[in-house]
Amino acid sequence: MEKITGKTLMRKWKEFWLSKDHKEIVGASLIPADNSVLFTTAGMQPLIPYLSGKPHPLGKRLFDIQPCLRTNDIEEVGDNRHHTMFFMLGNWSIGDYFKKEAISWSYEYLTSPQWLNIPKERLAVTVFAGDDVVPRDEVSAKIWQDCGIDKSHIFYFPKKDNWWEIGGGVGLCGPDTEIFYDTGKPACSEHCDPSCDCGKWVEIWNNVFMEFNVETKGGPVTKLPQQNVDTGMGLERIECVLNGYDSTFRNECFVEPIKTLERLSNKNFDFENEYGRNFCIICDHLRAAVFLLGDLQPTTPSNVGQGYVLRRLIRRAVNCARKLGIPALNLIEVVENYVEYYKEDFSNFVKVEQFIIDEIKNEIEKFEHAIEGGIKEFNASTKDLKAGDTLDGKTAFRLFDTFGFPLDLTIDLAHEKGIKVDKEGFDKFYAEHQQQSRDNSGAMFKGGVAEAKSDEEKAILRKLHSATHLMLAALRRVVGDYVEQRGSNITTERLRFDFTCDHKLSPEELKQVEDLVNDAIKRDLPITCEEMTVEEAKKSGAIGIFNDKYGEKVTVYTMGDFSKEICGGPHASHTGELGTFKILKEESSSSGVRRIKAVLN
Ligand code: ALA
Repeated sequence: MEKITGKTLMRKWKEFWLSKDHKEIVGASLIPADNSVLFTTAGMQPLIPYLSGKPHPLGKRLFDIQPCLRTNDIEEVGDNRHHTMFFMLGNWSIGDYFKKEAISWSYEYLTSPQWLNIPKERLAVTVFAGDDVVPRDEVSAKIWQDCGIDKSHIFYFPKKDNWWEIGGGVGLCGPDTEIFYDTGKPACSEHCDPSCDCGKWVEIWNNVFMEFNVETKGGPVTKLPQQNVDTGMGLERIECVLNGYDSTFRNECFVEPIKTLERLSNKNFDFENEYGRNFCIICDHLRAAVFLLGDLQPTTPSNVGQGYVLRRLIRRAVNCARKLGIPALNLIEVVENYVEYYKEDFSNFVKVEQFIIDEIKNEIEKFEHAIEGGIKEFNASTKDLKAGDTLDGKTAFRLFDTFGFPLDLTIDLAHEKGIKVDKEGFDKFYAEHQQQSRDNSGAMFKGGVAEAKSDEEKAILRKLHSATHLMLAALRRVVGDYVEQRGSNITTERLRFDFTCDHKLSPEELKQVEDLVNDAIKRDLPITCEEMTVEEAKKSGAIGIFNDKYGEKVTVYTMGDFSKEICGGPHASHTGELGTFKILKEESSSSGVRRIKAVLN
């Protein structure tokens, strides 16, 4: 099949919906106007008031190309399909057409030779199987069949698969019909269908029939004053599958950035080798950074909110550049590739190109400065060593302890000089240091651990305390970076934790939190403790309550790459000690504050 590029897909999307009397919503921002969440995570988010009944100034038929940003997938980036920033192509009926037109147009767009020209045999669709409240969606199934989709390619799935809601079980919702593309891979079994994630079927488009609302948490499903259609098609995904690529990073927008990185690093991009993931992370994170800075409501790097996410994206890209042997400031070439590629469709980029470049440059320099001191020390410590020698564990530990140098950075630098690092020695000093910090903070700790009777009880409290940190980090990934601690209480039986959150957590969200925590436990992350000034803690990205007294020392606990929090301790020494984390209960604590009780088994 002939290649179809991301730009062509955007253009076709516009042309198609204009031909169906839709108006384009231009300049949709990544930052929601109502500040209810940090970033726009779905195309419909800015349309909530209109889907709820308010007239939209542009009318009842709308479409757009919405940049979205989801931070909960940051750790996944580097596999073949996750992105922090992505484009969602959407069209809407605000109380205008409903199932018949929506489905017929979806079918036309996907299969017509004038548009995407997908053979209908390669499509399968799913519809809502029905429950006590909303009947089985025979209407949609019939429309699909009338369009030409064979009965054997229409599947009925329950609420967990074919019902869409804004989130948290409250707000606009409705049954949906999802469209899947057959990648041509062999079926994994005779039961393989679109609900299977073996890779044969890939979801490419979702049509939500948004005619319901849930007013209050746990309340009844009620009808909205109007029947809406809300659809979403991931641009990266569709470009990838239509071209038969093995990864979204083969898409057109990444071609130049990857070439640039290959040239700068003198390495080939290949998913199979040790560098592939670094290429992907840089490409993804810098693209997101360019869109955050190039937005009509620009975000700049900082230590809070959206700015903190941007800072993390840039710094993570810099760390990956280091692994590829690319001087960090050369990453600006990749930034320029993106501006060049997108400025035709995002006209604001033309005006703010220099601003985008300057901000990223500035942030890279700040980050480099922070680790420069450590590098000097490393060079001084290794100047008498030659290839084949080993850097002793004590020095590696001092670099870590005094300069905040992660061990893998020391190993990388040593590797460049052909020097080995005594990791066991490092671990020994590290463990001693940990014990010392624990003893110190244990002695200082008022209440809780200090008052516990037996060593065994103290150990349980330490583990639950560490689990609390992991849970807060997981909540921030799943719910959003706005989540903050409001209260914590730990007994030998359980942890109890209050935090800011604007909705009741759905079973899916709770499961995700549990899974993230258990995954961090499984990875057996070291739990380390450092003393630093408030300024340094902020700079390091630690969360927690900052006392703004200049120069005041605080203790920061770090759990691998997963959590960094200001805290008095004490904690376990490795997450692997914690066992299995289980949430027992999630409930309201006060307005805007939720409470979770959880245990370790
Ligand atoms: N709002 C729907 C989604 O995000 C279209 O899948």
